[in-house]
Amino acid sequence: MSQKPYVVDELISAKAIAARVEALAKEISNHYRDTDKLVVVGLLRGSFIFIADLVREIDLPVEVDFLEASSYGDAMESSREVRILKDLRGEIGGRDVLVVEDIIDTGHTLKHVLEILETRHPRRMEVCALLNKPARREAEVRAKWIGFDIPDEFVVGYGIDYAQRNRNLGYIGKVRFVEENN
Ligand code: IMP
Ligand code: MG
Repeated sequence: MSQKPYVVDELISAKAIAARVEALAKEISNHYRDTDKLVVVGLLRGSFIFIADLVREIDLPVEVDFLEASSYGDAMESSREVRILKDLRGEIGGRDVLVVEDIIDTGHTLKHVLEILETRHPRRMEVCALLNKPARREAEVRAKWIGFDIPDEFVVGYGIDYAQRNRNLGYIGKVRFVEENN
């Protein structure tokens, strides 16, 4: 695969992420303190590290399930066609569902996923997204918890990829294309 050369400039440090995740988990634990029906639904693959950190800070009985929806392929722009590639294993009817997403960009992916999950009649359903790009929004979605609002930049790290790379970075950085040296 040919890939234009790029570098990653740090946008949000690992330390800042950890502090924000801890704060979000506190709010979430507080919000759900009276339920024993909480299921965290992670949207694969970008949210896997966020979920791992978030649930370890949630001080409640919690189940974890995953759903994979695809809208991007390996491109940087959303195709706006959302497909379910991998469905949940468990039932969410009558449960408190917290959908955890890596980034809300145009909003199409999340809007579509929420519509599908609503048909299964969860008791309550909320969204927690690590990152939000408000400038890019096309579809209306409400997220009760947002980690960070970020500018209209393509970002990677902390689970988030560019063409499947850079998920393993501990921080979040912006992709910056550089001239090829030859
Ligand atoms: P949306 O449907 O445009 O909101 O797209 C949301 C999905 O696109 C996210 O869950 C990410 O998987 C992906 N995405 C959006 N922005 C970025 C980015 O800056 N870097 C990597 N993936 C992104
Ligand atoms: Mg995603």
